[in-house]
Amino acid sequence: MSMATGTSSSWMTFGLVLAMLSIAPLVAEARAFFVFGDSIVDSGNNNYLATTARADAPPFGIDYPTHLPTGRFSNGLNIPDIISEQIGQLQPPLPYLNPELIIWKKLLVGANFASAGIGILNDTGIQFINIIRMFSQLNYFEEYQYRVSAIIGAEQTRQLVNNALVLITVGGNDFVNNYYLVPFSTRSRQFTLPNYVNYLISEYRKLLMRLYELGARQVLVTGTGPMGCVPAELAMQSTNGGCSAELQRAAALYNPQLVQMLQGLNREIGQDVFIAVNTQQMHMDFISDPQAYGFKTSKIACCGQGPNNGIGPCTALSNLCPDRDHFAFWDSFHPSEKANRIIVQQIMSGSTQYMTPMNLSTLLASDSITN
Ligand SMILES: *[C@@H]1O[C@H](CO)[C@@H](O)[C@H](O)[C@H]1NC(C)=O
Ligand SMILES: *[C@@H]1O[C@H](CO)[C@@H](O)[C@H](O)[C@H]1NC(C)=O
Repeated sequence: MSMATGTSSSWMTFGLVLAMLSIAPLVAEARAFFVFGDSIVDSGNNNYLATTARADAPPFGIDYPTHLPTGRFSNGLNIPDIISEQIGQLQPPLPYLNPELIIWKKLLVGANFASAGIGILNDTGIQFINIIRMFSQLNYFEEYQYRVSAIIGAEQTRQLVNNALVLITVGGNDFVNNYYLVPFSTRSRQFTLPNYVNYLISEYRKLLMRLYELGARQVLVTGTGPMGCVPAELAMQSTNGGCSAELQRAAALYNPQLVQMLQGLNREIGQDVFIAVNTQQMHMDFISDPQAYGFKTSKIACCGQGPNNGIGPCTALSNLCPDRDHFAFWDSFHPSEKANRIIVQQIMSGSTQYMTPMNLSTLLASDSITN
């Protein structure tokens, strides 16, 4: 991981030569990919931070190509990895805090700014202490652009960013790790649920506007999943043995308003910059009929303990299923690699029920990128 200091300057010279030889084709043919958000899409930034929100110990990563934990909250690949594969990248973008990003070739394919535990609001996930909140992720994106400008110039950097695909997944923690974290939480005393949802949407809109101002033009925005049906909520707040009615009410209020907000932004900008991904419907499909997708269950996590394996984190001491592909949920909150593949398949080619206003294949095919 750490390079001997004596060799780092020769590595940098090597990197410079490599970068100069390969910049033109890289910028011309490969679309960069940027990722923002929470643990669903964090590829390891939290490994570099003093926080308890981490996935850096076995059995996380048990089905990853190296079979080692990487910081991804999955048994194997996560959603950004699979999208990266689908858009033809040879390697997914590295976590922004990974020191290997000093290699310019790796910098030019994009970066992952996501951090487990964060939400739209700054006070979401405060129990995790040191995580990269949304405003910092966006500040890092700006810093990234200065770094790239120093290599390929401002104009090429602007093009790289305008042509890049962007994924942002945030919002679930604003419910489970804020409003509903404890009974009578500060936010739940401050806001009724409908007013809290309005507030989240208006704060999210500001973050997305900043993302647009920073040059993002092709942005996939996921809604929350069916939060009340994840194994953690089935174990802790189940309503009559089923999904938590309160969290399902939250998802049902939040997701349609998110779609409306994105449509409003697109109208204001005059271009379909933001694409809504209906992760709620995608997840509901395999929650309501797991067998149709090859799962044995969507109620019990593969890794965990207690009812539904839904209590507490997945650790080396947890129950662990032998057949991860038969589980929709890897742990109490996060989908398995198999579920991630199904979600990305829908992102690629789903009907307008899943993707508004278009699926990713259509977006990638529309080569006339304006800004
Ligand atoms: C979050 O904190 C940053 C830095 O203090 C601040 O600029 C931003 O306005 C805050 N966001 C919200 C929603 O309060
Ligand atoms: C993806 O979107 C395109 C354009 O709207 C559509 O023709 C295609 O059928 C969609 N894919 C699916 C599976 O619906």
